[in-house]
Amino acid sequence: MTLKQKTTDLKKRMRDALKGGGSKAIEKQKATGKMTARERIIAILDPKTFHEYDLFVKHAGKDFDMDKKYLPGDGVITGTGILSGHPVCIYAQDFTVAGGSLGWMHAKKITKIMDHALKLKVPLIGINDSGGARIQEGVNALAGYGEIFYRNTQASGVIPQISVILGPCAGGAVYSPALTDFVFVVDKVSKMFITGPEVVKTVLGEEVSMEELGGARVHAEITGNAHFFAESEDECFDQIKHLISFIPWNNEKKADSFPSKPPKTRVFKIDNIIPTDTRQPYDVCDIIKAICDDSEFFEIQKHFAANIVIGFARLGGQTVGFVANQPKVMAGVLDIDSSDKAARFVRYCDAFNIPLVTLVDLPGYLPGIEQEHAGVIRHGAKVLYAYSEATVPKITVILRKAYGGGYIAMCSHHLKADFVFAWPYAEIAVMGPDGAANIIFKNEIKNAENPDEMRKQKIKEYKKKFANPYVAAAYGYIDAVIEPNETRHFLIHALEISNHKTEIRIKKKHGIPPF
Ligand code: HXC
Repeated sequence: MTLKQKTTDLKKRMRDALKGGGSKAIEKQKATGKMTARERIIAILDPKTFHEYDLFVKHAGKDFDMDKKYLPGDGVITGTGILSGHPVCIYAQDFTVAGGSLGWMHAKKITKIMDHALKLKVPLIGINDSGGARIQEGVNALAGYGEIFYRNTQASGVIPQISVILGPCAGGAVYSPALTDFVFVVDKVSKMFITGPEVVKTVLGEEVSMEELGGARVHAEITGNAHFFAESEDECFDQIKHLISFIPWNNEKKADSFPSKPPKTRVFKIDNIIPTDTRQPYDVCDIIKAICDDSEFFEIQKHFAANIVIGFARLGGQTVGFVANQPKVMAGVLDIDSSDKAARFVRYCDAFNIPLVTLVDLPGYLPGIEQEHAGVIRHGAKVLYAYSEATVPKITVILRKAYGGGYIAMCSHHLKADFVFAWPYAEIAVMGPDGAANIIFKNEIKNAENPDEMRKQKIKEYKKKFANPYVAAAYGYIDAVIEPNETRHFLIHALEISNHKTEIRIKKKHGIPPF
């Protein structure tokens, strides 16, 4: 062949491979409201930055007549590109080719791009749309998954790993997203489960739809497996771009800094957000927006365990991770799910050099048989572990209540917060005044002529003595009692001061967190 003929041959080979599963399969994909794998990659990345590799990889299946089948790209597209100015590695399973099922070479393409991401220390984005292990390839398909899970674990805490579920993600396949940092789901498109409705019916006799079993809402609201929920693929891609702007490329870098912008205090004014009655709820997201740059708060796991709020914002142009009790949901109490949610986020921020700002207003850990039997001790301990382990700058503001274990867990000085500030309304005590008075003045109340009157008087007495920030401040557990409107100023200064913080820890292989 001449050089020209060789070039023509290359073009033909590329055209064939780029057809994916062919027009019929593509039509079917589109009819379900889904984009094709390549369209998805192009929609996520900055224009004209995608470079595809391993287009000509052939599948390795031999049984069940597989050796006679051509599966373009073996059902997965891999490559590199630029996302909001960041270099990224990316892969997208192509459902139009054998249902995006994962065979040995399909897995090899994924693990190759994962190895690149880890070597180049850039974020990895994986788009899942697959029927799971390619049944015809048997144990080689299982081996492929194992290789992916191993790399997900090696990359954990080194490069950001983002999973996007844009179709079925069934069987063992779900464990790759579960090992990554952020999982994105789209309403009516994403389906994640270990075993599908058919198996559930056979084994348990229960009838359930795919949507009810593992649809996007289920994972965003109930299981907490998903961190971001979108109504459409386009919305989902915007969320990914937004996320990328807040996080560093890898664990050796800091997140990009931006020009500092004041909050929109005409809309979010602290004095108007906090109710005068300290028992009334309020939305802590409004407090965050009253404090952070441009009042822009990027919330994570918004619909799951809403009694705690986590997410990214900027202070003085720098990314910080906010962890805040949410008084308007279950009074902001810490329970199993909210503990898991907070602890994982604290560990993410710590791994990726993102300072932590903790806003405290909670009555403590949630009591009761259900929580105790489901393991609130073990799950609650994760918060203590995560904060104690974290060495990034840790700044805490006690807004109102900080009772009992909740006071300690929400990044107190005792877990080595760098700065703890308190508003003048802060109440720091072993427990709430009502409960405390009932216990320590039990006899006085019982023997009084008017027990109700005596109880009220004792509650007032207790409140006066302990339900304020000054006892803790007298012991140095609070660094400064500040006016709420000074919060942003104190936080930005504390961040500047802590910018070069280094904390040396006892050398060990790793700790044993209460998983
Ligand atoms: C091989 C598969 C496949 C698979 C789908 N296909 N899943 N091929 N292995 N796992 C093929 C189909 O044969 C079909 O090929 C094409 O993909 C499209 O599939 P359809 O069934 O026509 O599509 P749809 O009706 O949209 O249904 C999609 C689906 C269904 C819900 C995902 O295909 C399905 O239930 N698949 C099996 C899901 C599953 O049980 N996976 C778990 C595998 S075990 P043609 O040639 O007709 O176009 C597992 C364990 C891993 O994953 C453990 C790791 C630790």
